[in-house]
Amino acid sequence: MRKPLIVGNWKMYKTITEAVDYVDQVKDALPDPAKEEVELAVPTLFLESLVEHTRGTALKIVAENCFYQDEGAFTGETSPLALRELGIKHVIIGHSERRRLFFEDDTTVNKKVRAALNAGICPILCVDETMKRKQEHDKIVWVVSQVISGLQQVSEEELARVTVAYEPSWAIGSGNEAATPAEANEGCYLIRQTIAHLYSEQAAERVRILYGGSVNLANIKLLMQKDDIDGVLIGRASLDAATFLKMVNYQSC
Ligand code: 13P
Repeated sequence: MRKPLIVGNWKMYKTITEAVDYVDQVKDALPDPAKEEVELAVPTLFLESLVEHTRGTALKIVAENCFYQDEGAFTGETSPLALRELGIKHVIIGHSERRRLFFEDDTTVNKKVRAALNAGICPILCVDETMKRKQEHDKIVWVVSQVISGLQQVSEEELARVTVAYEPSWAIGSGNEAATPAEANEGCYLIRQTIAHLYSEQAAERVRILYGGSVNLANIKLLMQKDDIDGVLIGRASLDAATFLKMVNYQSC
């Protein structure tokens, strides 16, 4: 049985004062972590103080990115070892915004996945799908190839520490339509089948797969009811603490 995982992704929003204020509203009001995990991906600058601020609570703080080397002359980058020292458990890798705006290709994404695993951090590997690919009915080749390349040289044992997220960029951000629950489930199912082929049926049954792209109060419950969707990555709707709290209690939405 895969435990639901709800992740808010703040991207580059908020100041540290706003971040602490938000976390104070949320950290002691979460569901039982034995039944559902709740995480917040926050800008690197906030990681240390928010990890301290949430210590002993059910709210886990997650990194939005890291580099693929442990150390070196890489101005502006963040070492996965430094994240581990802070006690960070998860890091988002290969978000479509990183792929599109910062030119991260499949090779870079795979190096980051490997570096995170080597450092003892669990990657959330994001798989994108553009509108062009969708219109050209190219979903299968596109999504499957990102899963295959993202997981190069990841053993089945290591895969147990990987979460995959289906995040079609056509559904991300205001002004875009979320995938319907059926479309989102289809993407997650495709990822699960790819993992079954690459590894085993058991590995595919175990791996958690999230959907991200305009998840909101109106659609979260329907998305979470789908068989292959084990959780969600929430961008804009996670920025408001009260809304996020309602979303983690999605059964009542
Ligand atoms: P939105 O929820 O704002 O569409 O963002 C989704 C996302 O990118 C989560 O990682």
